[in-house]
Amino acid sequence: MDWKGAEPKLLTPRLLLRPLRLTDASDLLKIDSDPEVTYFRGLAPLSVEESRAQLEKHLRSRWNKSRSWMFWCIRVQGSDEFVGVGMLHQLNKDWREFEVGYSLARSQWGHGYATEAMRAALRFAFRTLRAHRIVANTYPENAASCRLLEKLGFRLEAQQKQSYWEHGAWQDNRQYALLEEEFRE
Ligand SMILES: CC(C)(COP(=O)(O)OP(=O)(O)OC[C@H]1O[C@@H](n2cnc3c(N)ncnc32)[C@H](O)[C@@H]1OP(=O)(O)O)[C@@H](O)C(=O)NCCC(=O)NCCS
Repeated sequence: MDWKGAEPKLLTPRLLLRPLRLTDASDLLKIDSDPEVTYFRGLAPLSVEESRAQLEKHLRSRWNKSRSWMFWCIRVQGSDEFVGVGMLHQLNKDWREFEVGYSLARSQWGHGYATEAMRAALRFAFRTLRAHRIVANTYPENAASCRLLEKLGFRLEAQQKQSYWEHGAWQDNRQYALLEEEFRE
């Protein structure tokens, strides 16, 4: 990714997406330790130490030359209330292919925040990073995530059977994609 340093701040009507900071650790733990959130990320809930170690690793990688991840902390404008995180992962530099990810604190679900935040992240990826294709992967039974992707304009490209071994069982995967020419702000 031709981007060095902190993620840029992104504003939406209600939200601010800004770079993560060490002081976000206790808020991040709210999502990292909640089994209802981590389940669909294919993970067991993280401990305080694991969650903090992940945050520290990300903060260090911010300055790497070969950096391929961006993570935003999503907060409500004005109140600064924690909403969740949004991610952008560069899969292939030459083909300008990225993957998006998102996790919101359970108390923030159902307010349209994921739609609003991810639309801003997509705009940044397509307009500033010049992404050509953005993919998203989700469990088929993750109805909120499937609906969110459809709302954002993603097309369902494949339903892969037994694609991952997670939570002690084979899990199917739905792959969605959105091309630059398909993106509507
Ligand atoms: C997926 C997630 C980010 C959605 O967040 P959200 O803020 O509730 O999403 P939005 O409010 O923007 O809603 C997006 C759409 O999904 C719908 N939706 C939300 N929850 C739903 C559910 N449980 N079942 C069906 N549709 C649902 C909303 O109604 C909305 O569609 P609509 O406008 O047509 O009504 C949130 O549920 C989450 O963090 N889940 C746990 C982590 C996770 O699954 N991450 C993704 C891994 S692939």
